[in-house]
Order: sequence, then structure tokens, then C-alpha cells
Amino acid sequence: MLLTNNIMIKPEIINLPKIEDPRGNLSIIEEDNQIPFKIERVYWIYDVPGGQMRGGHAFKQQQELIVSLSGSFDVVVDDGKVKQTFSLNRSYYGLYLPSGLWRHMQNFSTNSLAMILSSTHYDADDYIVQYSEYLKLIKSHEEKK
Ligand code: TYD
Repeated sequence: MLLTNNIMIKPEIINLPKIEDPRGNLSIIEEDNQIPFKIERVYWIYDVPGGQMRGGHAFKQQQELIVSLSGSFDVVVDDGKVKQTFSLNRSYYGLYLPSGLWRHMQNFSTNSLAMILSSTHYDADDYIVQYSEYLKLIKSHEEKK
């Protein structure tokens, strides 16, 4: 959000299309349609033991969409000033996260399955892993404005 010129600039829950059917429901994500980026990578997090947290870092470039395909969990998003918690508990909710936000995932229910669509290939250099470094970056970015 703070580091690149994304089209969408704030985290938000996107209501994905849901095609209801007595045989079972169906939802859809298309790049550059429901989400404002090209999908370069998909990964998923599963078998999370009770009480564990995932994430706990920021990305310089990567944008992402997080979907709870099964069960539920919370995504805590922090822009260096304000923390927001998004509860993902429906498989037709997608949490869009622009780049430049600190985020972690917690409160995973039993058998939860988190799918993450990413705008980039995996790149360890895109990670900001120290919260103090993240705050410094935010500050220097604001001073340049
Ligand atoms: P990481 O993103 O650090 O997960 P978390 O923030 O929840 O700890 O990823 C954990 C490990 O998996 C790390 O060693 C990097 C590796 N990894 C990949 O090799 N490719 C990927 O696409 C992802 C997301 C992680």
C-alpha cells in the first residue's frame, strides 16, 4: 500500500461470486477481474496446530488475496499505525491485501485451509521480517511525501 502504486490501496474483503446450486455451491476468482493483479503463485496453509500463528511479516511488492477454503481464521493487518482484524470464515470471502502491510494469521480452527493467491513468485528479498525495520520504512516513506 505504501510502497507501490497499487490500484486498490487498502485491505478489504471482496465478496467473490457465489453460484448457488442444490448440488453444492461454486465460487470464482479470475485475475484482473475480482482481484486487481495477475496471479503468479498460489500456496496454502493447512494442518495448523491449535494456537499457532502464521505470517508475521510485510511484503515490499507482493499483493495477495487470502481465502479460507475451509474452517476459519483471523488475519491481523497493521499499517504501522492502525491494526485491523479480518475474520475469514466463508469460502466466498477474499481478503485483498495490497503490498506494504504487516500481517499475521491466527485463531485457526481445526481443519482450516487458507489459500493465498500472490501477485509474485516467491522471493525472500520481498519480505520485511523485523517489525522495527517495517516501522522505519513506513516513517521514511511518509517523510518523502
Ligand atoms: P513464510 O512465508 O515465511 O511463512 P510464515 O510467515 O507463515 O512463517 O514461509 C515459510 C517457509 O516456506 C519459508 O522457509 C519459505 C518457504 N516458502 C517457499 O519456499 N515458497 C513460498 O511460496 C512460501 C510462501 C514459503
